[in-house]
This record gives sequence, structure tokens and C-alpha cells, in this order.
Amino acid sequence: MSNLDRVALVTGAARGIGAAIAGKLAALGHPVVLADAIGEVEATAAALRAAGHQARAIILDVADDAAVAALPVALGDWWERLGVLVNNAGISPKGPDGRRRPIAELPAEEWRRVLAVNLTGAFLVSQACIPPLRARRWGRIIMLTSQAARAKSLIAGAHYAASKTGLMGFARSLAAELGPDGITVNSIAPGRIDTPMARGAAAGVNESFAANIPLGRVGTPEEVAEVAGFLASDAAGYLTGATLDVGGGSFMP
Ligand SMILES: NC(=O)c1ccc[n+]([C@@H]2O[C@H](COP(=O)([O-])OP(=O)(O)OC[C@H]3O[C@@H](n4cnc5c(N)ncnc54)[C@H](O)[C@@H]3O)[C@@H](O)[C@H]2O)c1
Repeated sequence: MSNLDRVALVTGAARGIGAAIAGKLAALGHPVVLADAIGEVEATAAALRAAGHQARAIILDVADDAAVAALPVALGDWWERLGVLVNNAGISPKGPDGRRRPIAELPAEEWRRVLAVNLTGAFLVSQACIPPLRARRWGRIIMLTSQAARAKSLIAGAHYAASKTGLMGFARSLAAELGPDGITVNSIAPGRIDTPMARGAAAGVNESFAANIPLGRVGTPEEVAEVAGFLASDAAGYLTGATLDVGGGSFMP
């Protein structure tokens, strides 16, 4: 089966890592659906079309049950050709000074929203995508978790760390359940990557983090996208339930 027959759905694809992954999958020949909660996603998809790729934008809040349930209608004839899902949409709210809020001061509403987007959103979209992937007996699901789920984080909030750790558990359950259908499920745990999310950190945070990375710098969205391209490929056919750390060596188990 050629990648032209494997539509890729990337959530949170308007910018940052999601946009880079959408670009990489498009360059590999996949028709790509860029789903995001912000209107900027239209321009990101238009740029891919201008480069000669097949790309569509849809406005989607992954935490909205009804909007996710409407995905088959929104994607039309692309839905039954779905081959790849990248659960990339995520949020990492910080305090007004750009630093994580102490747990004692974390508003419960913010906790709920982070869990709803980062964890429940990935569950809802994955669940919706099971029927078309199962029908083809081939599929790739990729989760964007974080090094905040691999070790103690001094940058991310407790809600973010909890959501990403939960996502890894969900990915393992999904990998075990969908393996017999020819669907692999793997996670990418990026270290510090230069995106709008990372640029929202307080002054000096990225610089001091980079000083402790063996490769000596933060990563680029394109370096994460390369790994996603591999995980989506036939070459990664015997890899499932794995977490690949893409952090320049900042976390080594
Ligand atoms: N940048 C890093 O250093 C880093 C490190 C580890 C993990 N990650 C993870 O990688 C993923 C991408 O991060 P990024 O740095 O590109 O972030 P970003 O903030 O630059 O981009 C995230 C995108 O997700 C979208 N989004 C947010 N909430 C959404 C929702 N409810 N529904 C649909 N789309 C939504 C945003 O509009 C945005 O376009 C996230 O899951 C993040 O947690 C990032």
C-alpha cells in the first residue's frame, strides 16, 4: 500500500511540533489532515498545498466529545483511507511569571483542562480512529508524550506531568489491544524543543536546560518530525508499545 492511500491525521498541527510532523508526513506522500483548535491551522495546511501536497485543515478541540464524534463526517471520503494518527495536541499552562505553578496553588479547573486536552483528548481521537484503522488491518498511532513523563520535571506543571504519564499508560494499553489488528502504537517523548510552547517559559529556562543536555542545545520540531516519519513507516512495523526519547540525551533511562 502506498502512503497516498494512508491518510494521516495530526492533532495540534497549526504550529510547532505538530506542523513539522504534518509537513514531514506530507513530504513522505501521505494526504494529511491538520486538526487544531486555532484558525492558524488553515494557513499551515494552505502552505502544504502550495508546496504540492494533499492537505486539509479542520478546526477541532480534541477535548470536545461531540466534535471528535463528528470526525468521520468532517473527513468525508478520507476517513476510510485513514492510516496514521498523531496525537500531538497538548497544553502546558504556566503561572504569570512563565514558571510552573506550585501544586498548592494549582487551580483545579486548570488541572481538569490539562487532563482533558492532553490525556482524554488523545483517548477520544484514538477511540474514534479505531474502526477505520481496524478495517484496513494496518495502522500507526503516535503519541506525543514528554520527558516530564519520564523523570521529575522542574519546568512543567504537575498536571502536565500527570497527563503525559497517563498518556504513556494509555499508549501501552492501546498497543496491546490493537497489535492483533496490525496497528502499532508508539510514543515520542521530546526533551526541550524550540516551539511556541517552549518559548513561553520564563527567561533563562531554556538556556539553563540546554546547558545540561549532552548535545548542548534544545531540539527543533523537524528533529521530532523525522522520528514520527519513521514510526509511521513500514520500516517500523515490528515496533509497538515503545517510547522513543528525542531529547539530545537529556533523559537516559
Ligand atoms: N516543545 C517542547 O519542548 C515539548 C516537549 C515535550 C513534549 N511536547 C509535546 O509536543 C506536543 C506539541 O507541542 P508544541 O511544543 O509544538 O506546542 P505548541 O503550543 O507550540 O503547539 C501545540 C498545538 O496544539 C494545539 N492545541 C492545543 N489545545 C488543543 C486542543 N484542545 N485541540 C486541538 N489542538 C489543540 C495548539 O493550538 C497548538 O497549535 C504537545 O503535546 C507537547 O506537550 C513539547
